[in-house]
Amino acid sequence: MESKRQENKIIRFENIRNNRNRKAKVMDKKRRKTPTRIIAITSGKGGVGKTNIVANLGYALSKTGNKVLIFDADLGLGNIDILLGITPQYNLSHVINGEKSISDIIVKGPANLNILPASSGIQEMTGLSLDQRLEMLKDLDSVIDKYDILLIDTAAGISSNVLHFNTSANEIMVVVTPEPTSITDAYALMKILSLKYDEKDFKLIVNSAVTMDEAGDVFRQLNMVTNRFLDISIEYFGAILLDDNVKKSVKQQKLVSELAPVCTASRSFAVLAKKISTLPPQVKTNWDRQMDWAQMHMHRAD
Ligand SMILES: Nc1ncnc2c1ncn2[C@@H]1O[C@H](COP(=O)(O)OP(=O)(O)OP(=O)(O)O)[C@@H](O)[C@H]1O
Ligand SMILES: [Mg+2]
Repeated sequence: MESKRQENKIIRFENIRNNRNRKAKVMDKKRRKTPTRIIAITSGKGGVGKTNIVANLGYALSKTGNKVLIFDADLGLGNIDILLGITPQYNLSHVINGEKSISDIIVKGPANLNILPASSGIQEMTGLSLDQRLEMLKDLDSVIDKYDILLIDTAAGISSNVLHFNTSANEIMVVVTPEPTSITDAYALMKILSLKYDEKDFKLIVNSAVTMDEAGDVFRQLNMVTNRFLDISIEYFGAILLDDNVKKSVKQQKLVSELAPVCTASRSFAVLAKKISTLPPQVKTNWDRQMDWAQMHMHRAD
């Protein structure tokens, strides 16, 4: 479990964030012609469809000419490789133990997708220290300029890994299904991200609703409660309806967008991907903040 000390370190970092002069200097150094769009796909409850959404959005975005990197940030139980039917030789556990660097382990998926695979069944990966996570993000930062979009597939829940990877992104997309438990857990996740990490903007993707009306109701329900109790804003980003083709394609270890490109779910993925590539990216400098923090922290640790 992450210690109180590490939490305090993050809080101290929040103060650094307010140092505008320093931030401006870091931004100058890191300014990119077209900044990579960093999107975390996350959820409070498990099994709501994050990995399928990341993989299919990544595929649809790649097909339309974007250079996409998928970061499987479900570090202990990564399974994006299973979903894509690929068997990477190395994964992030090899990066953590120093055997490989991030660029060594990136593998190709369908439609030229780039995948950063996680390990499965290595318990230590679920409880990385802050230093280990920052070291990994620093390594990732050195390759990120090559990509238009980085999609982060987080684990479910409110572990330190999940919270950290969410705060590293420019945009946080929360996946929720119509189940009350999923809605409650999405609320809890946004509450923690807002109160402890000052994240105020979220995009909502409703998955596995039976109708678009039901999906809209899920958004309204969540929005009503958050408006009442939290100082955050939730944008309804879109919905993917319950579609048997998703289950079928998972069994075949193929993407539904590849296997059944005109089914309901695949059409929704294409719509969401288009929305991502046409909307202006959310301007937020979290990635730079994280990297700045990483550098400072590492320096202090030397
Ligand atoms: N739109 C959908 N229609 C039908 N079934 C779906 C849909 N989306 C997801 N599923 C089913 O839900 C299962 C879980 O999906 P997925 O693995 O993407 O969830 P997850 O949120 O990544 O889970 P975890 O929290 O364990 O990482 C899929 O294997 C699939 O069977
Ligand atoms: Mg998953």
